[in-house]
Amino acid sequence: MQERLKGINIYLIGMMGSGKSTIGGLLAKQLGYRFMDTDDIISQTTHRSITDIFATEGEDVFRDLESKVLSEICAYKKFVVATGGGIILKQMNWSYLRHGMIIWLNVPVEELYHRLKEDQTRPLLQHPDPLQQLQILLEKRQSLYAQADLEIKINPGGVPQQVVTQILEKIPTILKPQSYGLN
Ligand code: S3P
Repeated sequence: MQERLKGINIYLIGMMGSGKSTIGGLLAKQLGYRFMDTDDIISQTTHRSITDIFATEGEDVFRDLESKVLSEICAYKKFVVATGGGIILKQMNWSYLRHGMIIWLNVPVEELYHRLKEDQTRPLLQHPDPLQQLQILLEKRQSLYAQADLEIKINPGGVPQQVVTQILEKIPTILKPQSYGLN
């Protein structure tokens, strides 16, 4: 399958708490790819936390940084990329994502809440009712996430390796048998 992928990047999309970084790291290892996380790159290059950027510069500045990082990642091959949950909001980002294979980790909102209820690193969840906030965000984003090449439905309680196995089983179903490209 690695040969058929031809080194195209794999972009994991989905809500905060869907496990993009954990699963992305494992997936990269098993594919012989490298791993990166767009939030980590933004923090490393600005020497600031995501929370700090949101608080001082605002979401629009963060979104511009996110697009810039994504556009630069496109120049590389053989990366599994964990993207920030809101990367799908900008139309322009899709033109970068489409250089690779886009995989949506679809996790039920109650499970996201369970994972994130104590989290203080996601500025968009610093809200009196984080469950409602997650529901609102997901409602706005669902149809965008659904434009991924592949949707992986994640059952609560499943272990990350099971998700990786599921992904590895499904990838060949969207690769053309002969031409080694995406359908
Ligand atoms: C965001 C998700 C976060 C981070 C920022 C905004 C979002 O990334 O980019 O807090 O809009 O959903 P994760 O999805 O990695 O948590």
